Amino acid sequence: MPAPPDDTRSFRSEVVSVRASGDDGVLLRIRPELSFPPLRAARFFMLRRADALSPAIPRPFSVYRHLADGSLEFLIKVMGRGTRALADSRPGDSLVTVGPLGRGFDTLDGDGPPWVMLAGGIGSVPFYMGIEQALAGMDGGAPVRSQDVTLVYGAAHAGFLYELEAFAALGVRTVAATDDGSFGFHGNVVQALVAQWQADRLPAEVRLLACGPERMMAAVAAVARERELDCWLSLETLMGCGVGICNGCAVETVPEGPLGAWPVAKCCIDGPVFSAAAIRLGH
Ligand SMILES: Cc1cc2nc3c(=O)[nH]c(=O)nc-3n(C[C@H](O)[C@H](O)[C@H](O)COP(=O)(O)OP(=O)(O)OC[C@H]3O[C@@H](n4cnc5c(N)ncnc54)[C@H](O)[C@@H]3O)c2cc1C
Ligand code: FES
Repeated sequence: MPAPPDDTRSFRSEVVSVRASGDDGVLLRIRPELSFPPLRAARFFMLRRADALSPAIPRPFSVYRHLADGSLEFLIKVMGRGTRALADSRPGDSLVTVGPLGRGFDTLDGDGPPWVMLAGGIGSVPFYMGIEQALAGMDGGAPVRSQDVTLVYGAAHAGFLYELEAFAALGVRTVAATDDGSFGFHGNVVQALVAQWQADRLPAEVRLLACGPERMMAAVAAVARERELDCWLSLETLMGCGVGICNGCAVETVPEGPLGAWPVAKCCIDGPVFSAAAIRLGH
């Protein structure tokens, strides 16, 4: 079993700003009391308010943006008590912060087939930095050309396409989709992806990255299997500790797959990004 990561520090951060995003989200900017080297996209922090309004167990959130002044932005969809408390925080409030945690996306290089990033609702969050890092070049590798990145961003309806304009402004091809047809393609993310292939707007061979609800992830993994495409999934499992101790984030692995003989992996320290070939979803 892997050891807990080194970055399990708990420290305070100060809320800088909170603004509404979409129908039920907020863009939360915080100033951590620690500084970090550049963070790989899809890494996350556990967050809770320092007062009694948050549940005692902090909640995991991917980093949306890591700004030059060291502040961090999170894009948060209000789901329950933990996210409500964070959304209601005010500038100057203190947050308990643990991280940065997890493994982010591997190097997004420009040497292979184009990248297609599939985002479901709030699952779009890790792709903002993912696109920035791909276009800038990672780990000394070739930058990805903007025409070789497509973001397919889907949601139940238009109000759940958080910060869509900011994603579109990154300069990659962005395909919006909604289940109810209120914006963009009428259908889900996987249907929008297939429509891109049918319209010859994507080559047959692409590399897939996905983040969204588990049903969407299972459907993406199935497409990847059928078409024999490389595919990585950033999972949003429920988490207790975020640092490998509580076993609350177990993910079933493929027997004798890329993760070896261990039957479960821990999303918090082995992920949250997994090769679709390594895990079993929807069982
Ligand atoms: C690595 C990682 C990164 C994440 N990044 C983000 C992010 O950038 N932005 C964001 O808004 N959320 C993100 N999440 C999800 C977020 O952590 C949960 O929405 C949050 O923990 C809910 O806490 P709560 O107290 O508000 O809701 P709770 O009261 O705990 O739950 C309210 C309802 O939501 C359901 N629920 C809670 N968590 C999840 C989940 N993960 N998936 C599906 N249903 C859930 C519960 O079953 C319940 O029905 C991420 C999760 C992980 C593991
Ligand atoms: S959340 Fe506790 S082990 Fe992963």
